[in-house]
Amino acid sequence: SPADPWDDPRVPVDNDAVFLRACRREPVPHTPVWFMRQAGRSLPEYLRVRAGVPMLEACTRPDMITEITLQPVRRYAVDAAIFFSDIMVPLKAIGVDLDIKPGVGPVIADPIRDAAGLARLRPLTPDDVTYVTEAVAGLVGELGDTPLIGFAGGPFTLASYLIEGGPSKSHDLTKAMMYGAPELWGELLGRLADITTEFLKIQVAAGASAVQVFDSWVGAVSAEDYRRSVLPHTSKIFSAVEGLGVPRIHFGVGTGELLGIMGEAGADVVGVDWRVPLDAAVSRVEPGKALQGNLDPAVLFAPWEVIEQRTRDVLARGRTAEGHVFNLGHGVLPSTDPDKLARLADFVHEASAADAVT
Ligand code: CP3
Repeated sequence: SPADPWDDPRVPVDNDAVFLRACRREPVPHTPVWFMRQAGRSLPEYLRVRAGVPMLEACTRPDMITEITLQPVRRYAVDAAIFFSDIMVPLKAIGVDLDIKPGVGPVIADPIRDAAGLARLRPLTPDDVTYVTEAVAGLVGELGDTPLIGFAGGPFTLASYLIEGGPSKSHDLTKAMMYGAPELWGELLGRLADITTEFLKIQVAAGASAVQVFDSWVGAVSAEDYRRSVLPHTSKIFSAVEGLGVPRIHFGVGTGELLGIMGEAGADVVGVDWRVPLDAAVSRVEPGKALQGNLDPAVLFAPWEVIEQRTRDVLARGRTAEGHVFNLGHGVLPSTDPDKLARLADFVHEASAADAVT
């Protein structure tokens, strides 16, 4: 068996896919588009497939993963698929007692708050998630020229769920550890960064052609604290996957003050939520990065004329970036009308093709 399976993806990637070109800041015939959480509760076919199957069980069944990942690709003219899984899957796979409760989110039975808790976090190995390898490999075959994005959770966001024991608005206990027990914090984030790195490598080894790190809740910390307490760990993740040769995307919510540092962490593409216009984001992120975003997901609840006008605005501002991948500023909201997303994907292509550089 090969010493380093990561060097040997099973299916050759179509490196000319528009999404990958935009990530690499190359000229594109139209702005590529995909939607965070494009697979999920807004799709009736998703609700049908998931009926009676708990979220974390669905994430271990290659047939379900494959079907759910493909559902939005069938409906929408999206330029990429995102692997159906969850940021908590690798933690579950190494034996952390956790559940994803509908309408709540991840819930952890024994939150990690001391050295004994930390000791329960062992490294992830490919054997822990053979269903991921199997599903990615099958999907890449079915997707053809549509790239598959692999993903994992960022260290702050994973730490917050593990420490709080569930979703949190103010991240009290998380920050208590960050400020008050920096050594324990550093060890916890170090282990989480290694788990995330391994989960990304497994997906790329199986054929994913880009990766996104979702540090969704890291906007809760100041720039100075990010630099001191989070950046070393995210940098480690991005440098560890650099050699895989796939674009690396880094996203968080409410990260306007962090965009520059999140770029410094080593991503090729910085995700921007709807709070910062993309032309302003350009001036906050160092040169040599593409941007992803950033239509407010709630704009999809407005009449089509408003959606169209807001989308033109995002595209115009996105043209000031070296590369632009159109997306929402956060995930698709569950009550979104799929027909509007379909129309939006088409509109992004048409409007951007009209004045694209080829
Ligand atoms: O984007 C995609 O379509 C791929 C699938 C995906 C899921 N979770 C499926 C999912 C991705 C990329 C994630 C990442 C994820 N999971 C994040 C980062 C992205 C973000 O939105 O900021 C976070 C913070 C989680 C943790 C998590 N898992 C939450 C907050 C929830 C929602 C809880 C709820 O019910 O409101 C989940 C569950 C989850 N993950 C669902 C899906 C489709 C809903 C599960 C269901 O159908 O019951």
